[in-house]
Amino acid sequence: MAKFFISCAINLEELALKELKLKWPMFLDSPLPEINLVKGGLELECEIPDGLALNLILKIPTRILLRLKEQKCRDIPKLYNIVRKFPWKQYLKKEKVKWHITTQQSRLIHSKKIEKACADGLNDFFKANALPEKIKNAPNFCEQQVFIRINEDLLTLSLDTSGELLHIRGNRSFRGHASLRETYAAACIYKLVNDMDETNSLLDPMFGTGTFLSEAHDFFLPTQRSFPFFDWCEPSPLKSTKGHWRFKNYHGRDIDSLIVDKCELSFVEKKVADIFQSRPEHFDVVICNPPYGKRVKLDIYPVDYFNKLLSVMLENYSPIRLGILIPHTIRMDFKKLPAHYKLTSTLPFNNNGIKVNFYVINKY
Ligand SMILES: C[S@@+](CC[C@H](N)C(=O)[O-])C[C@H]1O[C@@H](n2cnc3c(N)ncnc32)[C@H](O)[C@@H]1O
Repeated sequence: MAKFFISCAINLEELALKELKLKWPMFLDSPLPEINLVKGGLELECEIPDGLALNLILKIPTRILLRLKEQKCRDIPKLYNIVRKFPWKQYLKKEKVKWHITTQQSRLIHSKKIEKACADGLNDFFKANALPEKIKNAPNFCEQQVFIRINEDLLTLSLDTSGELLHIRGNRSFRGHASLRETYAAACIYKLVNDMDETNSLLDPMFGTGTFLSEAHDFFLPTQRSFPFFDWCEPSPLKSTKGHWRFKNYHGRDIDSLIVDKCELSFVEKKVADIFQSRPEHFDVVICNPPYGKRVKLDIYPVDYFNKLLSVMLENYSPIRLGILIPHTIRMDFKKLPAHYKLTSTLPFNNNGIKVNFYVINKY
């Protein structure tokens, strides 16, 4: 058994836990382990191949770390010795790694000195236990990352299993300036529809590069990209699954014809359209990440803009459910929603430096 830490953005922990509990039995044969929710992620103990497979099936987390060692450590010689004695050959396919150092409330505070001690320790380990030449010279093995965290003099040594952050799904080449990270988009879409049974149509009326639509479509499809652990351990085989909820059809609208032309998503019915000129047309679920007025200025007062947008969407599309991202500085008055609509939940998170709220509105 091994310990894993599944990291995710602050405030998305509960959703990440729900996703894990839902998907584990769908994709893996072993029983769901006990999961501990902590700030910024989830901790669990499981067989290594199961933990590695989580990289392929989870869409909300940002990175998955394999915990290698935890030990009190207050000085550089001790750190050097811990690293030098660790059995790296089981996990590494190169004799050098990229180090990520964080330290808090500890005697060891100088990142450069910490990194040097780790690099020296690893170097000396491999002097005594060299990797076979065949492995050392293999050109295809990717660089591995080791995370060193020292918190209140407790050292945690972890091997990164994800490589690139998990929002890189590996299947899309076009990402716009204002694209939402896929992990946030997955969290929003899951928050919006995870309790719905029958779902027919999904519309993003300002779809940009289509992140919401692709995340909704792929939520139950394993991520197809390479991971650093492919070089040293096979993940558990995944049971095939048809998914839990899927929309029958996906619609994207955007005012920018260049963006619409570039959209690579074959399952999307797309159109160039200005939301404020749209005609009544029903969609079951509507999700939207409008411009925030930071890079591109809005032509009316922001709170009026977001209120107008909301009423246009509710009146024109009459959705069963609507989700919208709005900067947290905008004080919305949800008491003024059209009849039969009610704000049911709010998910606050930090969208790359801008604090936003994802509001879920239900028809009742
Ligand atoms: C923040 S971006 C959306 C990003 C998208 N969620 C993604 O991840 O790529 C806002 C989008 O709204 C579009 N937009 C702005 N005003 C619009 C309008 N009046 N009608 C339709 N689309 C509009 C912009 O062209 C832009 O693509």
